[in-house]
Amino acid sequence: MPFIESEPTLHEYVKQLPKAELHLHLEGSVEAQTIQEIHPELTLHEIQTAMRFSGFAGFLKAYVWVSQRLTTAAAYRIALRRLLESLVSQNVLAVEITLSVGVILWKGQALEAIFEALCQECEAHPAIRVRWIFDAIRQFGAGQAAAVFERAAAYRQAGVVAIGIGGDEERGPAIWFADLYRRAQDAGLCLTAHAGETAGPESVWQAIQIGAQRIGHGIRAVEDVKLMAYLREHQIALEVCPSSNVATAAVRTLEEHPLRRLWEAGVPIVLGTDDPALFATSLCKEYALAAELFNFSREELSRLAANSFRFSFDRLSRELGQHVLPAAGE
Ligand code: HPA
Ligand code: ZN
Repeated sequence: MPFIESEPTLHEYVKQLPKAELHLHLEGSVEAQTIQEIHPELTLHEIQTAMRFSGFAGFLKAYVWVSQRLTTAAAYRIALRRLLESLVSQNVLAVEITLSVGVILWKGQALEAIFEALCQECEAHPAIRVRWIFDAIRQFGAGQAAAVFERAAAYRQAGVVAIGIGGDEERGPAIWFADLYRRAQDAGLCLTAHAGETAGPESVWQAIQIGAQRIGHGIRAVEDVKLMAYLREHQIALEVCPSSNVATAAVRTLEEHPLRRLWEAGVPIVLGTDDPALFATSLCKEYALAAELFNFSREELSRLAANSFRFSFDRLSRELGQHVLPAAGE
């Protein structure tokens, strides 16, 4: 029998593509089963009920509920173990994990023990390069954020590459954090910010004004031609997470999602999952969606994958991308 090489299916193609994941919250990655592994006294039904939500406010509540189940350093470590196993199985070679340090401090937990446990767990997963983004909650204000960013600077040598702000854009404008962002950059940290997810283009402009080098979501940039041109010219990438945007009702339906329009406008884009457990997604699923719903060709998927390395805040991850996807990054 002659050996006939057949075209890989879309799912095979997506899976074999080397990828990096740049928009992923550890707390939002914890599957119901993993919460049960941590808290055997809870039933799967109780957990799934608490993780079900509608709208952005409902999402934030579910996110806080999951975060509150991460009661010890050991619990965080189990969450990371399950996440890294999943990423490695999807051929994700590098990840920047956002850790809600604002929530950890709000819970009154010792960050030191948690972060030490997380770093130890990383050593057990040499197939993936892990870097960290310490994230503050916008609506908690600049005082709380200062405490988060100080810790990010202190842990730079341990793999923290950047800071971010998340939570509620309307109740915590980026401009509140301008001084802190400047200081973080002076300390050698990179800057990202969730913006243009639930609020409009002016929120993305503000994130840019305080120095953001990437934007979490940023999808409402599609409403502002000048903003799209600015993002393109300054190579500020949007971390676009289509399933997240539908689940939180940032967009009404996947069909209405602006991914394709942003891409056509030349805005740099990196696909992410945001909170895969809460949104029932995975990075492979987001790439498959791009193909199935937004007509991304395989060559375009490969460019998205190249972007995921190219826009990493970590030099080694960028170099890794050039090595594994040499042609796609041009
Ligand atoms: N937006 C705002 N806050 C968040 C998000 C998000 O996508 N994910 C986790 N916290
Ligand atoms: Zn996010």
